[in-house]
Amino acid sequence: MNLPSYGEAKKREKVTYQTIDYQIPKQLKDKYHGKKYFLKTYGCQMNEHDSENIRAMLLQLGFVEISLMDDADLILLNTCSIRENAHNKVFGMLGRIKHLKEKRPSLLVGFCGCMAQEEGVVSDIMNKYKWINFVFGTHNLYDLPRILEESIEKGKQEIEVYSKDLDMVENVPVLRDKSYKAYVNIIYGCDKFCTYCIVPYTRGSERSRKREDILNEISKLYHDGYQEVTLLGQNVNAYGKDLYDDYGLGELLSDIAMMPIPRIRFVTSHPWDFTDKMIEVIGKYPNIMPSIHLPVQSGSNSILKKMGRRYSKESYLELFDKLKKVRPGIAISTDIIVGFPGESEQDFKDTLDLVHYCQYDNAFTFIYSPRENTPAAKLVDDISLEEKEKRLYQLNEVVNTYFLENNKKHVGRVEKVLVEGESLKKKGMYFGYTEENKLVNFTGKNIKEGSIISVKISSAKTWSLDGEAYE
Ligand code: SAH
Ligand code: SF4
Ligand code: F3S
Repeated sequence: MNLPSYGEAKKREKVTYQTIDYQIPKQLKDKYHGKKYFLKTYGCQMNEHDSENIRAMLLQLGFVEISLMDDADLILLNTCSIRENAHNKVFGMLGRIKHLKEKRPSLLVGFCGCMAQEEGVVSDIMNKYKWINFVFGTHNLYDLPRILEESIEKGKQEIEVYSKDLDMVENVPVLRDKSYKAYVNIIYGCDKFCTYCIVPYTRGSERSRKREDILNEISKLYHDGYQEVTLLGQNVNAYGKDLYDDYGLGELLSDIAMMPIPRIRFVTSHPWDFTDKMIEVIGKYPNIMPSIHLPVQSGSNSILKKMGRRYSKESYLELFDKLKKVRPGIAISTDIIVGFPGESEQDFKDTLDLVHYCQYDNAFTFIYSPRENTPAAKLVDDISLEEKEKRLYQLNEVVNTYFLENNKKHVGRVEKVLVEGESLKKKGMYFGYTEENKLVNFTGKNIKEGSIISVKISSAKTWSLDGEAYE
């Protein structure tokens, strides 16, 4: 048994990671032939991509995936810790699973992802959810086959959570959700320690993958017909700092952009270490998509300081302007938190002013949620829920106006769209994403999923565009 420890998770030491080539234990291959599993994923793209690894491992063990949990032999929850409501969803789900387990004690239940890295959650699992069969963390995801096996063999709850990264494990099998766009991890963990955020504790220190491993993975994806890659990291801008003296995200992006892969995206960029080299590269290569997620969190300097974000409103805007200039038409999206402890009316107004200036193409807005063990959780949460909800509502009204205004600019244009498939709601309708990452619903005939086609935009809504395929 290994339990998570925040003390350990907080440490940042310089270590050279050993790269290990993953192999599934031979004796476990196809051991569970025909057994059915149900996997539920919460949280960000990182978790979604981890679930693609989980799927591939379970497939090698002989499991088949099903979409109804009632019939499953194994239920696995890949969880997220970022806000209270993410927690609540998972605990709600555990309530439903408990009923199934009571009816069918042979049902196996596994728990992984960021919540498995929380001391409080794991202690609850050990005390109140003794029926959960096994728990593993974000640092030993690849060990799922062994942990699953052990919990069955021993017939008791198996908890294997490490608080820090052990090795750099490469070649973990992956079963990608789509055959035309792919996530590619470039850096794990986060060292920014924004005062409200739990991620540096759940995902550990910043560790870059070697450039040759990333370039090889992307080259293979290209040869397999992939049209789009999204480079993943909690802070992709820190790429390379732990490995190289003079090779960062700018250099990596330009090496990838020189491959013939049509679309390259990356998330998430912390505004703090966005270098001029990166800006130059974004301006230079058309296959780097004109769409950047640049979370601002707040427009007030005093709140930014309390959040530990390491930039000011002014330096954020300077970066924002540089990006708009180097790549005209670039879509910029953001994340904003309202109701951080001590946020005054004026601080909130500063955020609204910043939104009016930036006129974002998309924004994810959140009410501040205190997270276990984070520095901000010790501050007095002095704003009433009613006030927080009022601010969120007001902010959403403003951001939504700009989504629509920006979308309207596309009407009448012919845009390149990566086709995702036929619309579930309407026959003869397809949907896909533009280079700016805008959702388009369009009419057309015999259009191939995964192709990039021209679509003439006919009208704009707040969250999507309408159009028709254009030859
Ligand atoms: N690494 C990314 C963010 C990942 S979390 C970055 O720094 O840009 C996604 C978003 O969740 C954050 O940008 C933030 O807006 C929000 N978030 C994180 N912790 C939160 C908390 N405790 N309460 C409310 N929102 C939070
Ligand atoms: Fe959290 Fe900040 Fe790291 Fe983003 S940069 S994951 S908000 S600590
Ligand atoms: Fe959630 Fe963990 Fe992602 S906390 S947002 S799943 S890194």
